[in-house]
Amino acid sequence: PEDLQINYKGMLYPGVLCSVEMFQALETFEAREDDLLIATYPKNGTNWMIQILYEMVSLVHNREPLLDTTCIEFGNPEILARFKDRPSPRILSTHLNFKNIPKSIYEKKVKILLIVRNPKDTAVSFYNFYNSLPALPSYNAWDSFFKDFMNGKVVFGQYFDFVATWEKHLDDKTMMAITFEEMKEDLPTALKKISDFFHLSLNEEQINLVASRTSFNSMKDKSENTHGKLGDSFFRKGEIGDWKNYFTEDQSKEVDAMFEKYLAETKLGKLLNYDKYCK
Ligand code: A3P
Repeated sequence: PEDLQINYKGMLYPGVLCSVEMFQALETFEAREDDLLIATYPKNGTNWMIQILYEMVSLVHNREPLLDTTCIEFGNPEILARFKDRPSPRILSTHLNFKNIPKSIYEKKVKILLIVRNPKDTAVSFYNFYNSLPALPSYNAWDSFFKDFMNGKVVFGQYFDFVATWEKHLDDKTMMAITFEEMKEDLPTALKKISDFFHLSLNEEQINLVASRTSFNSMKDKSENTHGKLGDSFFRKGEIGDWKNYFTEDQSKEVDAMFEKYLAETKLGKLLNYDKYCK
């Protein structure tokens, strides 16, 4: 059904989760200086990072924050009010393009952590997500999803456009980028970077504790508690390189050309270590 995806200002959004009223309400969202904001294109590690920050804040503040796995733009204006009485620091997440985030986020100089994952694994993860989530339309074939992915006819728009708009702000003191792949390769080192960026000052023992609590298997094991029936859709494989099981040679070259055009020469492009993970 078409209303599973709505078009707002030229971009598709999940119709079950987003609405024009919500986008309008979001314009007056009141950010706080000590908010911790996670920005990701879908399937780039949003839920992983939410759990990481949840575990970090629990340890540092000695209390359990609310585990909220929904993005700020999801729901209706009444649901948006839930953030008002939440104690600081609040853990927030968004899939919005930089140009669409609430103004108060940059006015309050909220710290933003951008997580990026290589585009090929992103596409495969997204394809499987479309086919497992009732809130999104299903695709009969990988090839037709791939076309829509490349044309930005998927929810939250095109990957390269998303990454390129955020890339422009990478030098801001309030922003840091980290890759899904570096988290996979060495989680404790990535966690140290995250802890330093948010001034959470976790010690080594705490870092290791967070690492074990946020491994793929331990998150998958508790996914029914954290995500209810949707758990299996959010924790599928959690690996690097699954794209090789889906991409044709031509599709691979098409993504390489887009990467070359939009990202290869940028800081974020270098951070992605493209040749290692996408060739
Ligand atoms: P796959 O579909 O490749 O398995 P998001 O949370 O942004 O929707 O991203 C989901 C992707 O992150 C899925 O990728 C999921 O398995 C992976 N993921 C979630 N938690 C993870 C973890 N702790 N370690 C590794 N990958 C994880």
